[in-house]
Amino acid sequence: IEWPKNHDEPNGLRQTECPMRPNEQSNYALPNENTPKIRNIEKIQFGQHLIDTWYFSPYPNEYSQCRIIYICEFCLCHFSCEKQLRRHAKKCTIRHPPGNEIYRDDNVSFFEIDGRRQLKYCRNLALLSKLFLDHKDLKYDIDEKNCETNYNLSCILTLPQHQRKGYGRLLISFSYELSKIEGQIGTPERPLSDLGLTSYYSYWQEAILDICMEAAQNKRELSIEEISVRTSIDTDDVISTLHFLNAFREYKRHIAIVLDHRLIALYKEIKARKKLTIAENRFDPRYKKNVLIVGFAEEN
Ligand code: ACO
Ligand code: ZN
Repeated sequence: IEWPKNHDEPNGLRQTECPMRPNEQSNYALPNENTPKIRNIEKIQFGQHLIDTWYFSPYPNEYSQCRIIYICEFCLCHFSCEKQLRRHAKKCTIRHPPGNEIYRDDNVSFFEIDGRRQLKYCRNLALLSKLFLDHKDLKYDIDEKNCETNYNLSCILTLPQHQRKGYGRLLISFSYELSKIEGQIGTPERPLSDLGLTSYYSYWQEAILDICMEAAQNKRELSIEEISVRTSIDTDDVISTLHFLNAFREYKRHIAIVLDHRLIALYKEIKARKKLTIAENRFDPRYKKNVLIVGFAEEN
Protein backbone atom coordinates (compact mmCIF):
# COMPACT_ATOMS: atom_id res chain seq x y z
CA ILE A 1 0.00 0.00 0.00
CA GLU A 2 1.43 3.35 -0.90
CA TRP A 3 0.77 6.30 1.32
CA PRO A 4 0.71 9.77 -0.13
CA LYS A 5 2.52 12.79 1.21
CA ASN A 6 1.03 14.48 4.25
CA HIS A 7 -0.08 18.05 4.63
CA ASP A 8 0.66 20.35 7.51
CA GLU A 9 -2.37 20.99 9.59
CA PRO A 10 -2.90 24.35 11.26
CA ASN A 11 -3.03 22.68 14.67
CA GLY A 12 0.41 21.19 14.13
CA LEU A 13 -0.84 17.70 13.41
CA ARG A 14 -0.07 16.06 10.12
CA GLN A 15 -2.87 14.84 7.94
CA THR A 16 -2.69 11.89 5.62
CA GLU A 17 -5.12 10.96 2.91
CA CYS A 18 -5.35 7.21 2.51
CA PRO A 19 -6.05 5.79 -0.91
CA MET A 20 -7.37 2.24 -0.75
CA ARG A 21 -5.42 -0.48 -2.43
CA PRO A 22 -6.67 -3.88 -1.32
CA ASN A 23 -3.91 -6.22 -0.41
CA GLU A 24 -5.16 -9.72 -0.02
CA GLN A 25 -2.03 -11.07 1.57
CA SER A 26 -2.12 -8.59 4.39
CA ASN A 27 -3.38 -9.76 7.78
CA TYR A 28 -3.62 -6.17 8.84
CA ALA A 29 -6.83 -4.23 8.90
CA LEU A 30 -6.82 -2.24 5.73
CA PRO A 31 -7.59 1.44 5.99
CA ASN A 32 -10.98 2.58 4.74
CA GLU A 33 -12.89 5.87 4.70
CA ASN A 34 -13.24 5.64 8.49
CA THR A 35 -9.53 5.32 9.04
CA PRO A 36 -8.27 8.27 11.07
CA LYS A 37 -6.44 10.70 8.84
CA ILE A 38 -4.43 12.47 11.48
CA ARG A 39 -1.55 11.31 13.62
CA ASN A 40 -3.28 8.38 15.24
CA ILE A 41 -0.91 7.18 17.91
CA GLU A 42 0.50 9.69 20.36
CA LYS A 43 3.21 7.64 21.98
CA ILE A 44 4.89 4.29 21.78
CA GLN A 45 6.44 2.39 24.58
CA PHE A 46 9.59 0.75 23.29
CA GLY A 47 11.81 -1.00 25.81
CA GLN A 48 12.60 1.52 28.53
CA HIS A 49 11.44 4.47 26.45
CA LEU A 50 8.12 6.24 26.14
CA ILE A 51 8.44 8.06 22.83
CA ASP A 52 6.29 10.79 21.27
CA THR A 53 5.43 9.90 17.70
CA TRP A 54 5.73 12.38 14.81
CA TYR A 55 3.38 11.24 12.05
CA PHE A 56 0.51 9.00 11.05
CA SER A 57 1.20 5.30 10.60
CA PRO A 58 -1.36 2.76 9.35
CA TYR A 59 -1.45 0.50 12.39
CA PRO A 60 -4.52 -1.78 12.42
CA ASN A 61 -7.89 -0.20 13.14
CA GLU A 62 -8.10 -1.85 16.55
CA TYR A 63 -5.42 0.60 17.70
CA SER A 64 -7.37 3.65 16.63
CA GLN A 65 -8.56 4.30 20.19
CA CYS A 66 -5.10 3.79 21.71
CA ARG A 67 -3.09 6.78 22.79
CA ILE A 68 -0.07 4.59 23.48
CA ILE A 69 0.92 1.39 21.78
CA TYR A 70 3.36 -1.06 23.29
CA ILE A 71 6.02 -2.47 21.02
CA CYS A 72 8.31 -5.42 21.66
CA GLU A 73 11.79 -4.03 21.11
CA PHE A 74 12.99 -7.36 19.74
CA CYS A 75 10.39 -8.61 17.26
CA LEU A 76 8.62 -5.21 16.87
CA CYS A 77 5.18 -6.77 17.49
CA HIS A 78 2.67 -4.25 18.77
CA PHE A 79 0.09 -4.42 21.54
CA SER A 80 -2.66 -2.18 22.83
CA CYS A 81 -1.85 -2.64 26.50
CA GLU A 82 1.18 -3.21 28.65
CA LYS A 83 -0.22 -6.44 30.07
CA GLN A 84 -0.33 -8.00 26.61
CA LEU A 85 3.24 -6.90 25.94
CA ARG A 86 4.40 -8.44 29.23
CA ARG A 87 2.65 -11.69 28.39
CA HIS A 88 4.31 -11.64 24.96
CA ALA A 89 7.73 -10.82 26.43
CA LYS A 90 7.68 -14.07 28.43
CA LYS A 91 7.37 -16.06 25.20
CA CYS A 92 9.39 -13.92 22.81
CA THR A 93 12.77 -15.51 22.28
CA ILE A 94 14.10 -13.19 19.55
CA ARG A 95 17.08 -11.12 20.70
CA HIS A 96 18.25 -9.63 17.42
CA PRO A 97 16.72 -8.90 14.02
CA PRO A 98 16.17 -11.88 11.74
CA GLY A 99 18.42 -12.43 8.72
CA ASN A 100 22.18 -12.47 8.23
CA GLU A 101 24.46 -10.43 10.41
CA ILE A 102 26.70 -8.89 7.78
CA TYR A 103 28.74 -6.54 9.97
CA ARG A 104 29.73 -6.39 13.61
CA ASP A 105 32.11 -4.27 15.62
CA ASP A 106 32.35 -3.51 19.33
CA ASN A 107 29.27 -1.30 19.38
CA VAL A 108 27.05 -2.09 16.47
CA SER A 109 25.75 -4.88 14.23
CA PHE A 110 24.03 -4.73 10.86
CA PHE A 111 21.60 -7.34 9.59
CA GLU A 112 20.52 -8.07 6.05
CA ILE A 113 16.85 -8.95 6.04
CA ASP A 114 14.99 -10.53 3.14
CA GLY A 115 11.64 -8.77 2.92
CA ARG A 116 9.95 -11.82 1.39
CA ARG A 117 11.12 -14.26 4.04
CA GLN A 118 10.73 -11.95 7.02
CA LEU A 119 7.44 -10.45 6.01
CA LYS A 120 6.05 -9.94 9.52
CA TYR A 121 9.20 -8.36 10.91
CA CYS A 122 9.47 -6.06 7.89
CA ARG A 123 5.83 -5.00 8.16
CA ASN A 124 6.30 -4.23 11.84
CA LEU A 125 9.46 -2.30 11.02
CA ALA A 126 7.68 -0.33 8.28
CA LEU A 127 4.79 0.56 10.61
CA LEU A 128 7.18 1.66 13.35
CA SER A 129 9.30 3.71 10.92
CA LYS A 130 6.28 5.46 9.42
CA LEU A 131 5.58 7.02 12.85
CA PHE A 132 8.72 9.15 12.27
CA LEU A 133 8.63 9.58 8.50
CA ASP A 134 6.23 11.80 6.73
CA HIS A 135 7.38 11.90 3.15
CA LYS A 136 7.90 8.23 2.33
CA ASP A 137 5.54 5.78 0.72
CA LEU A 138 4.96 2.81 2.95
CA LYS A 139 4.96 -0.47 1.14
CA TYR A 140 3.50 -3.31 3.14
CA ASP A 141 5.03 -5.93 0.97
CA ILE A 142 8.66 -5.09 0.86
CA ASP A 143 10.12 -5.94 -2.52
CA GLU A 144 13.59 -6.87 -3.57
CA LYS A 145 16.05 -4.05 -3.82
CA ASN A 146 15.19 -1.95 -6.85
CA CYS A 147 17.79 -2.87 -9.42
CA GLU A 148 16.83 -0.41 -12.14
CA THR A 149 17.99 2.65 -10.24
CA ASN A 150 21.26 3.41 -8.53
CA TYR A 151 19.64 3.93 -5.14
CA ASN A 152 21.91 2.54 -2.46
CA LEU A 153 19.59 3.46 0.36
CA SER A 154 15.85 3.73 0.53
CA CYS A 155 15.20 5.03 3.99
CA ILE A 156 17.01 5.50 7.27
CA LEU A 157 15.62 6.07 10.70
CA THR A 158 17.20 6.58 14.08
CA LEU A 159 14.58 6.26 16.81
CA PRO A 160 14.27 9.62 18.61
CA GLN A 161 15.83 8.44 21.87
CA HIS A 162 19.06 7.67 19.98
CA GLN A 163 19.17 10.61 17.58
CA ARG A 164 22.12 13.01 17.39
CA LYS A 165 24.57 10.37 18.52
CA GLY A 166 25.99 9.72 15.06
CA TYR A 167 23.91 6.66 14.07
CA GLY A 168 22.28 8.37 11.07
CA ARG A 169 25.65 9.22 9.64
CA LEU A 170 26.83 5.69 10.38
CA LEU A 171 23.91 4.25 8.38
CA ILE A 172 24.73 6.54 5.47
CA SER A 173 28.38 5.61 5.68
CA PHE A 174 27.39 1.93 5.69
CA SER A 175 25.33 2.32 2.51
CA TYR A 176 28.36 3.77 0.72
CA GLU A 177 30.67 1.06 2.06
CA LEU A 178 28.30 -1.53 0.58
CA SER A 179 28.32 0.35 -2.73
CA LYS A 180 32.12 0.34 -2.66
CA ILE A 181 32.19 -3.41 -2.03
CA GLU A 182 29.82 -3.89 -4.94
CA GLY A 183 31.79 -1.49 -7.15
CA GLN A 184 28.70 0.67 -7.63
CA ILE A 185 27.88 4.35 -7.38
CA GLY A 186 24.82 5.11 -5.31
CA THR A 187 22.44 7.77 -4.17
CA PRO A 188 19.61 7.83 -1.62
CA GLU A 189 16.05 7.46 -2.80
CA ARG A 190 14.23 10.77 -3.18
CA PRO A 191 12.60 12.72 -1.67
CA LEU A 192 14.82 13.26 1.35
CA SER A 193 13.43 14.66 4.58
CA ASP A 194 15.05 17.81 6.01
CA LEU A 195 16.81 15.73 8.63
CA GLY A 196 17.83 13.20 5.98
CA LEU A 197 19.32 15.92 3.79
CA THR A 198 21.19 17.47 6.73
CA SER A 199 22.68 14.10 7.57
CA TYR A 200 23.59 13.40 3.94
CA TYR A 201 25.30 16.77 3.46
CA SER A 202 27.28 16.12 6.59
CA TYR A 203 28.52 12.79 5.19
CA TRP A 204 29.06 14.02 1.61
CA GLN A 205 31.02 17.09 2.71
CA GLU A 206 33.55 15.07 4.60
CA ALA A 207 33.94 12.30 2.00
CA ILE A 208 34.36 14.81 -0.84
CA LEU A 209 36.64 17.18 1.06
CA ASP A 210 38.87 14.22 2.00
CA ILE A 211 39.56 13.61 -1.70
CA CYS A 212 39.86 17.30 -2.63
CA MET A 213 42.30 18.00 0.21
CA GLU A 214 44.46 15.06 -0.75
CA ALA A 215 44.52 16.11 -4.42
CA ALA A 216 45.32 19.75 -3.51
CA GLN A 217 48.14 18.68 -1.18
CA ASN A 218 49.63 16.51 -3.93
CA LYS A 219 48.97 19.21 -6.56
CA ARG A 220 47.01 16.67 -8.54
CA GLU A 221 44.19 17.25 -10.99
CA LEU A 222 40.83 15.87 -9.99
CA SER A 223 37.56 15.32 -11.83
CA ILE A 224 34.02 15.07 -10.51
CA GLU A 225 34.01 11.58 -11.99
CA GLU A 226 37.05 10.54 -9.94
CA ILE A 227 35.50 11.88 -6.73
CA SER A 228 32.38 9.90 -7.56
CA VAL A 229 34.22 6.65 -8.30
CA ARG A 230 36.37 6.86 -5.18
CA THR A 231 33.54 7.72 -2.81
CA SER A 232 30.68 5.85 -4.55
CA ILE A 233 28.75 9.14 -4.31
CA ASP A 234 26.71 9.91 -7.42
CA THR A 235 28.12 12.78 -9.56
CA ASP A 236 24.97 14.91 -9.08
CA ASP A 237 25.39 14.64 -5.31
CA VAL A 238 29.09 15.51 -5.61
CA ILE A 239 28.23 18.62 -7.62
CA SER A 240 25.40 19.69 -5.32
CA THR A 241 27.65 19.28 -2.26
CA LEU A 242 30.42 21.35 -3.86
CA HIS A 243 27.81 24.02 -4.68
CA PHE A 244 26.51 23.81 -1.11
CA LEU A 245 30.09 24.37 0.09
CA ASN A 246 30.44 27.27 -2.36
CA ALA A 247 33.63 25.62 -3.62
CA PHE A 248 33.33 26.25 -7.37
CA ARG A 249 35.23 29.26 -8.74
CA GLU A 250 36.18 30.42 -12.19
CA TYR A 251 39.92 30.05 -12.56
CA LYS A 252 41.86 30.76 -15.77
CA ARG A 253 38.60 30.42 -17.75
CA HIS A 254 37.91 27.00 -16.21
CA ILE A 255 35.72 25.99 -13.33
CA ALA A 256 37.88 24.95 -10.39
CA ILE A 257 37.28 23.62 -6.90
CA VAL A 258 38.92 26.17 -4.65
CA LEU A 259 39.74 25.27 -1.06
CA ASP A 260 39.89 28.65 0.63
CA HIS A 261 40.54 29.39 4.33
CA ARG A 262 36.87 28.99 5.09
CA LEU A 263 36.79 25.44 3.67
CA ILE A 264 40.07 24.48 5.28
CA ALA A 265 38.72 25.64 8.64
CA LEU A 266 35.48 23.74 8.04
CA TYR A 267 37.44 20.61 7.11
CA LYS A 268 39.53 20.82 10.27
CA GLU A 269 36.39 21.23 12.32
CA ILE A 270 34.73 18.22 10.64
CA LYS A 271 37.82 16.09 11.21
CA ALA A 272 37.97 17.06 14.88
CA ARG A 273 34.44 15.73 15.53
CA LYS A 274 34.18 12.30 17.08
CA LYS A 275 32.37 9.89 14.81
CA LEU A 276 31.20 6.34 14.65
CA THR A 277 32.91 4.68 11.72
CA ILE A 278 32.59 1.56 9.62
CA ALA A 279 35.67 -0.67 9.54
CA GLU A 280 36.10 -2.48 6.27
CA ASN A 281 37.53 -5.59 7.94
CA ARG A 282 34.45 -6.07 10.11
CA PHE A 283 32.23 -7.16 7.23
CA ASP A 284 31.30 -10.79 7.04
CA PRO A 285 33.62 -11.84 4.19
CA ARG A 286 30.76 -13.78 2.62
CA TYR A 287 29.13 -10.45 1.98
CA LYS A 288 31.68 -9.68 -0.69
CA LYS A 289 29.43 -11.27 -3.23
CA ASN A 290 31.89 -11.07 -6.09
CA VAL A 291 34.29 -13.35 -4.19
CA LEU A 292 33.57 -17.02 -4.77
CA ILE A 293 35.08 -19.73 -2.64
CA VAL A 294 36.43 -22.64 -4.66
CA GLY A 295 37.38 -25.97 -3.07
CA PHE A 296 37.40 -29.75 -3.46
CA ALA A 297 34.79 -31.87 -1.75
CA GLU A 298 36.18 -34.06 1.02
CA GLU A 299 36.59 -37.70 -0.04
CA ASN A 300 35.27 -40.26 2.41
N1 ACO B 1 19.13 19.41 13.82
C1 ACO B 1 20.29 19.81 13.22
N2 ACO B 1 21.23 18.94 12.75
C2 ACO B 1 20.95 17.64 12.89
C3 ACO B 1 19.75 17.15 13.48
C4 ACO B 1 18.83 18.12 13.97
N3 ACO B 1 17.70 17.73 14.59
N4 ACO B 1 19.77 15.81 13.47
C5 ACO B 1 20.92 15.45 12.88
N5 ACO B 1 21.63 16.56 12.53
C6 ACO B 1 22.95 16.62 11.90
C7 ACO B 1 23.99 16.26 12.92
O1 ACO B 1 24.50 17.42 13.54
C8 ACO B 1 25.04 15.54 12.11
O2 ACO B 1 25.90 16.46 11.48
P1 ACO B 1 27.47 16.51 11.90
O3 ACO B 1 27.99 15.10 11.73
O4 ACO B 1 28.00 17.45 10.87
O5 ACO B 1 27.47 16.98 13.29
C9 ACO B 1 24.22 14.88 11.00
O6 ACO B 1 23.00 15.58 10.90
C10 ACO B 1 23.99 13.43 11.29
O7 ACO B 1 23.64 13.28 12.65
P2 ACO B 1 23.45 11.86 13.31
O8 ACO B 1 23.51 11.97 14.79
O9 ACO B 1 24.38 10.90 12.66
O10 ACO B 1 21.96 11.52 12.82
P3 ACO B 1 20.78 10.82 13.63
O11 ACO B 1 21.20 9.53 14.24
O12 ACO B 1 20.13 11.80 14.52
O13 ACO B 1 19.82 10.42 12.41
C11 ACO B 1 18.12 10.81 10.84
C12 ACO B 1 19.48 11.28 11.37
C13 ACO B 1 18.17 9.33 10.49
C14 ACO B 1 17.75 11.59 9.59
C15 ACO B 1 17.08 11.04 11.99
O14 ACO B 1 16.94 12.41 12.20
C16 ACO B 1 15.73 10.44 11.72
O15 ACO B 1 15.53 9.25 11.91
N6 ACO B 1 14.75 11.27 11.27
C17 ACO B 1 13.41 10.82 11.00
C18 ACO B 1 13.37 9.95 9.77
C19 ACO B 1 13.98 10.63 8.57
O16 ACO B 1 13.72 11.79 8.26
N7 ACO B 1 14.84 9.87 7.85
C20 ACO B 1 15.50 10.32 6.64
C21 ACO B 1 14.60 10.12 5.49
S1 ACO B 1 15.35 10.43 3.92
C22 ACO B 1 16.15 8.95 3.53
O17 ACO B 1 16.15 8.07 4.30
C23 ACO B 1 16.80 8.76 2.20
ZN1 ZN C 1 8.78 -9.90 20.75
